[in-house]
Amino acid sequence: MFGLIIRIVGKKVLVIFRQFGRSKILLILLPLVWGLVAFGPAIWWLAMETSRYLLLPSAPTQLLEHYRRNRSLHYYLDGIQTLIEPSLLPCTSPDEMAVLVLVASAPIRFEHRQAVRKTWGAHLPTYFVLGLQGDDIDEQLVDNYVEGKQYSDLIVFDFQDHYQNLTLKTALMMKWSLHRCPQTQFLFKTDDDVMVNPWTLRKVLKENEDAPLLGYNKRDSYLHRDEYKKWFTPRWMMREDHVSQYLSGTAYLISGDFISKLLKKAYEVPMVNLEDVYFTYLVAHRRLGLRLVHERRLSPYKPWLKVTCIYWDLASVHSMEPDEMVTAWTKIEQYGKMDNHSNLCWFFNTYLRDFSEFALY
Ligand SMILES: *[C@@H]1O[C@H](CO)[C@@H](O)[C@H](O)[C@H]1NC(C)=O
Ligand SMILES: *[C@@H]1O[C@H](CO)[C@@H](O)[C@H](O)[C@H]1NC(C)=O
Ligand SMILES: *[C@@H]1O[C@H](CO)[C@@H](O)[C@H](O)[C@H]1NC(C)=O
Repeated sequence: MFGLIIRIVGKKVLVIFRQFGRSKILLILLPLVWGLVAFGPAIWWLAMETSRYLLLPSAPTQLLEHYRRNRSLHYYLDGIQTLIEPSLLPCTSPDEMAVLVLVASAPIRFEHRQAVRKTWGAHLPTYFVLGLQGDDIDEQLVDNYVEGKQYSDLIVFDFQDHYQNLTLKTALMMKWSLHRCPQTQFLFKTDDDVMVNPWTLRKVLKENEDAPLLGYNKRDSYLHRDEYKKWFTPRWMMREDHVSQYLSGTAYLISGDFISKLLKKAYEVPMVNLEDVYFTYLVAHRRLGLRLVHERRLSPYKPWLKVTCIYWDLASVHSMEPDEMVTAWTKIEQYGKMDNHSNLCWFFNTYLRDFSEFALY
């Protein structure tokens, strides 16, 4: 049937071709080609936008619908069990630990975890925090169990892993850190596409020992009210449009002295899907009146100029693909192993550092 149609159409095309002759065909084809060149980008853009909307599993409003019932953090946390955790726990000695790094990852992002393990993760006590994802939970758990046994750095909780659930994930990080590593000086919350510079991070920590919360302070932001935006927040969840300041969720530090206070206060504040806005602005800043210390080196950006001194200057760089991270890391590690890196970046530090924000995006 289908073959027949194609044959008939093919014959028709041949007939048209013979009737018109080659020059006339060109007369029709040329405007078509020109039209494509002129409007191609617009058509492309339209197709991409349309597919973006069609590919979304469902409107984010639907994903947030369950919060209409209860937005008590306590209510959610109480129901969540720890499924997998490392057999070799951090903080086994009573000494104070400078920093505990908890990385928000997702079950399928094995490549990202490997990149972190191969690079900066090896220089800091680093653990990955995951939930459950996909149709075959049992299979995922078996994979995670094997991975956890091998690297002893996975913490898996019994809840749906989804970016709309990052607030829960961060709360779980705090709870875990309180139970397993109460003597940590700082809890460092970051993501698996962030490259951390352990040497710069230690410097940042030394200079900010008294900071209750430390990170990249974003001032005067407005919430996304377009429901197809990834960071959409419905009005029924948060009425105010304007957020005066919050610490970017890509990399921030909570002083060990405040983790318990923060979590306890959060039990009184209805949850919001934006993890950083919720914990650093609503709970820490608004309710507890804590200072959100701005630290430009805990950057949520990345350099477009691939200059080692720019990387070296930052304690965190965001949006790194695994292979990109591994490549950038080789230089960082080289510098880290030399004790004269301040000499190496002397020119940059003296003349260019103040302008280096322009090299970030
Ligand atoms: C939500 O859950 C908490 C904790 O379980 C409970 O105390 C509270 O009454 C619940 N709120 C509503 C509106 O059901
Ligand atoms: C977030 O986690 C809770 C608890 O597992 C679950 O009920 C909810 O559906 C999750 N949300 C999303 C968007 O997956
Ligand atoms: C830094 O130290 C290394 C050896 O550790 C040396 O090879 C290099 O020349 C030094 N660079 C500067 C700028 O001092």
